[in-house]
Amino acid sequence: MKFYILVILIHYFNILQVSSLAENNNVTYWIEYFKAHMNAAAEYVIPSDNADLVKVTNPEISDYGTFDFIIVGSGPSGSVIASRLSEIADWNVLLLEAGDIDTNFNLLLTSSAYAAVSNSGWGYNTTSQKNACLAMYNQQCAQHAGKIIGGGSTMNSGVYYRPHESDFDRWVNVYGNEGWSFEEVLPYFKKFENINYEPTDEGYHGFDGPLTIGFDADTPILTQTLLDAYNEIGYSYADNNGPTITGFSRVPLTYISNERVSASTAFLKPVWNRSNLKISLNSFVTKVLFSDKSGTATGVEFIKNGIKHVAKARKEVILSAGPYNSAQILLLSGVGPQDHLESLDIPVIADLPVGQNFQDHIILFGLSISTNVTWFNYTFEQAVERFMQHLKPLTTTSQIIAWSNLNQSETPEIEVIISAGSSGDCSFSHKFLRFADKYVANSTGNSATNIGVSLSIFHPKSRGSIKLKSSNPIDKPLIDPNILGEAEDREFLATAIQWIVTMNETSAWKSIGAQVYFNEVPECKGQVLSRDWILCTQAYWASPGYHATSANSMGKNPAVSVVDPRLLVHGFGNLRVADTSIIPETPTGHTQAAAYMIGERAADFIKESYGHL
Ligand SMILES: Cc1cc2nc3c(=O)[nH]c(=O)nc-3n(C[C@H](O)[C@H](O)[C@H](O)COP(=O)(O)OP(=O)(O)OC[C@H]3O[C@@H](n4cnc5c(N)ncnc54)[C@H](O)[C@@H]3O)c2cc1C
Ligand SMILES: *[C@@H]1O[C@H](CO)[C@@H](O)[C@H](O)[C@H]1NC(C)=O
Ligand SMILES: *[C@@H]1O[C@H](CO)[C@@H](O)[C@H](O)[C@H]1NC(C)=O
Ligand SMILES: *[C@@H]1O[C@H](CO)[C@@H](O)[C@H](O)[C@H]1NC(C)=O
Ligand SMILES: *[C@@H]1O[C@H](CO)[C@@H](O)[C@H](O)[C@H]1NC(C)=O
Ligand SMILES: *[C@@H]1O[C@H](CO)[C@@H](O)[C@H](O)[C@H]1NC(C)=O
Ligand SMILES: *[C@@H]1O[C@H](CO)[C@@H](O)[C@H](O)[C@H]1NC(C)=O
Ligand SMILES: *[C@@H]1O[C@H](CO)[C@@H](O)[C@H](O)[C@H]1NC(C)=O
Ligand SMILES: *[C@@H]1O[C@H](CO)[C@@H](O)[C@H](O)[C@H]1NC(C)=O
Repeated sequence: MKFYILVILIHYFNILQVSSLAENNNVTYWIEYFKAHMNAAAEYVIPSDNADLVKVTNPEISDYGTFDFIIVGSGPSGSVIASRLSEIADWNVLLLEAGDIDTNFNLLLTSSAYAAVSNSGWGYNTTSQKNACLAMYNQQCAQHAGKIIGGGSTMNSGVYYRPHESDFDRWVNVYGNEGWSFEEVLPYFKKFENINYEPTDEGYHGFDGPLTIGFDADTPILTQTLLDAYNEIGYSYADNNGPTITGFSRVPLTYISNERVSASTAFLKPVWNRSNLKISLNSFVTKVLFSDKSGTATGVEFIKNGIKHVAKARKEVILSAGPYNSAQILLLSGVGPQDHLESLDIPVIADLPVGQNFQDHIILFGLSISTNVTWFNYTFEQAVERFMQHLKPLTTTSQIIAWSNLNQSETPEIEVIISAGSSGDCSFSHKFLRFADKYVANSTGNSATNIGVSLSIFHPKSRGSIKLKSSNPIDKPLIDPNILGEAEDREFLATAIQWIVTMNETSAWKSIGAQVYFNEVPECKGQVLSRDWILCTQAYWASPGYHATSANSMGKNPAVSVVDPRLLVHGFGNLRVADTSIIPETPTGHTQAAAYMIGERAADFIKESYGHL
């Protein structure tokens, strides 16, 4: 994930639509197109609630028909399920998506920040945090999510990393999820992957699935320096999607020939016109409907174009509404913690810990490295010209990712993304990340000579929650990732920062005059970069990493989990959750790869249940 980005959005640009980025090399056209999007994002007012989605102009409820399967949400998980289930000609499938269609703008990976701050994002914030987000307005970080066809995969940074083998061992051994060992899930990753780079171990990768994963064509300028620096401290090149994952690599991206590959482009567009698949956009699901007989879902209620609809399901309802909204829908439907539902006067259908295990990776802003080398120094117009030649920085500014293991554990615990060439528009980063005015001046050390460092913690101990503000879907959910809530996480992050600082002692870093700096805030006194100073300062710049998981955690025990190992909500025969909210704890790696795999797995569970496998 990469945040010091330049670029774009618009809602009136369908008029400008051309077939693809690759097919149009008119630089003037793209300069105007990108600038129009940038301006639109800068002017966008983030709505404080879902009023636009729930506005009903006609009081009558419309019957949308009956389907075998209703899937809610078209992110990586939901798109795979819709595509795989509609392979069965006898089944008819409805896919409901709250967002709109994707555009050429979304094909640009570096559009991520601008898409997040537009109608393509949900505009969520965390609740006020105590130990993190202190530099953000009201101590609330952004908690971004995609509201568009393809979900997060249409507007994220495109980084492709699977969880590590040992993560899956924990899913089985710690949480009791039979069927999810690494050996059992690997074929599902291989089924959708089309790896377009030379892997270190072919046995770990798929080469003929729909989702292309490759490197950006432009060679990272920092490779040799980083290679040398990491070698000096004992790390080497690794295929972070292979068997040996501690070390560093170029950044594998869902990307081909200057264009994003998403759940929409890889899974939905190719089957869009299947006669047994109906895809309904701008359709906001507010409730799952149940029969009087407990344990049976009969359909869903949704609002589209000012009209309330009911769609009926003959076989199953599958919630793939993503890390926050699948929990929100369950709670609105009466499936959740009894106390919480009763306090909001929502009739309880099932008492389950929905929202209770919620987690996210931790990402730290404000850390960078000054050097005496000019990496990229281009005007916007020059950057667009370079983009047409498939050159950084508009393709992606990420240079390299390092996974390190400070704690001698089997799996890496931290990730460092090194970016140079962040021609980043500071004022926009502030809107994207929600920095309060007071801290804006110090929030990015952004220049042609700086290197951006984004530091993430993969396995925080802190857990938070997702709750409802009211029983009305007009309210956004209350999202509390509890970042750095546990003292152990605070100590570990400080140790990771100190480790990065010590890299300035390597001869490789010295040769470019590298000096790590961490943005100062007036509230933290004492020696800059001392342990106490770091512990104080990190609370200002730590944020959730937008890799949220676990609100509907999968497990055997209904007291502490929401779905069983076949993704059925405990106690229900035909209601599943299939998205990143079922992941029991934040994984090593990023989350979109796991989301696609969960979709493949869910589709096969369903096919198996109905004798189609
Ligand atoms: C800014 C950003 C950058 C990221 N960068 C990376 C990265 O580089 N690499 C990586 O691996 N991961 C990244 N992620 C995370 C990744 O995108 C998500 O983990 C992934 O998209 C989750 O997939 P999902 O299918 O669980 O849900 P989502 O992708 O969130 O999809 C859920 C879908 O359901 C729809 N929906 C929600 N509620 C309703 C409703 N009530 N009715 C109808 N439809 C609804 C949503 O609009 C959305 O389309 C990033 C995320 C963000 C926000
Ligand atoms: C390139 O795009 C610009 C702006 O859209 C347009 O005015 C111009 O005619 C285009 N040039 C060509 C050769 O198509
Ligand atoms: C989230 O924070 C932004 C920036 O402070 C603000 O504009 C927006 O209204 C907030 N949204 C909610 C739901 O609190
Ligand atoms: C679906 O069919 C319509 C009408 O034939 C066509 O215009 C459209 O391009 C098709 N869409 C896709 C994604 O194939
Ligand atoms: C970047 O380019 C501008 C304009 O050419 C120049 O004034 C500036 O000194 C350059 N900065 C660096 C760090 O090279
Ligand atoms: C690091 O190791 C200590 C001691 O074994 C352990 O308590 C702690 O949980 C570990 N921290 C992380 C982040 O893995
Ligand atoms: C590296 O950073 C540490 C901590 O700030 C400092 O003590 C040391 O002098 C620095 N080393 C170099 C070579 O800059
Ligand atoms: C950067 O600084 C290092 C160490 O002082 C020096 O060896 C190197 O020549 C400098 N590089 C440039 C481009 O000035
Ligand atoms: C910004 O950083 C400087 C030191 O570089 C510090 O003196 C100042 O207090 C900081 N200002 C704010 C508002 O954080």
